[in-house]
Amino acid sequence: MQKLLFVCLGNICRSPSAENIMNYLIDKQGLQDQVVCDSAGTAGYHIGKPPDRRMTAAAQRRGIVLLGRARQFSTIDFEKFDLILAMDQANYEDILELDPEKKYAHKVKMICEFCQEYPDHEVPDPYYGGADGFDYVINLLLDACDGLLKTVATPNQR
Ligand code: 4NP
Repeated sequence: MQKLLFVCLGNICRSPSAENIMNYLIDKQGLQDQVVCDSAGTAGYHIGKPPDRRMTAAAQRRGIVLLGRARQFSTIDFEKFDLILAMDQANYEDILELDPEKKYAHKVKMICEFCQEYPDHEVPDPYYGGADGFDYVINLLLDACDGLLKTVATPNQR
């Protein structure tokens, strides 16, 4: 079983989208026995809150329901997860700063490494922008999560 943790700043927009998109793809491909997902924020401003309603609306437009409540990333997560996926460079650096001995650096990656079609290197923060930014995040994450799932799971024979 591969344990994946998606991490952004607030855990109310990008990382809960990545988590729920990944679960949507896992369900669609019947890979529930191979991969489990969670998400967290490097900051604690929104602990306990559900995903942002603008993000929820954008996910809904692609048929994806956003579940979960915000929590903050903790150093325990370095042990608990096999792969920690940062949405942007700041998230990546904030995570690595919590591992000064670089014991877990091999587990931390940028989600956009797994993009197949999008040229982006980061998932842009949609929080202070318009609805288009939220739609862009969903489409970008659908591409990245599909690529990620291909590298962490073996396709089911049907
Ligand atoms: P997220 O988006 O990191 O994708 O959840 C943000 C959420 C909240 C804030 C910034 C980004 N904020 O400044 O409160």
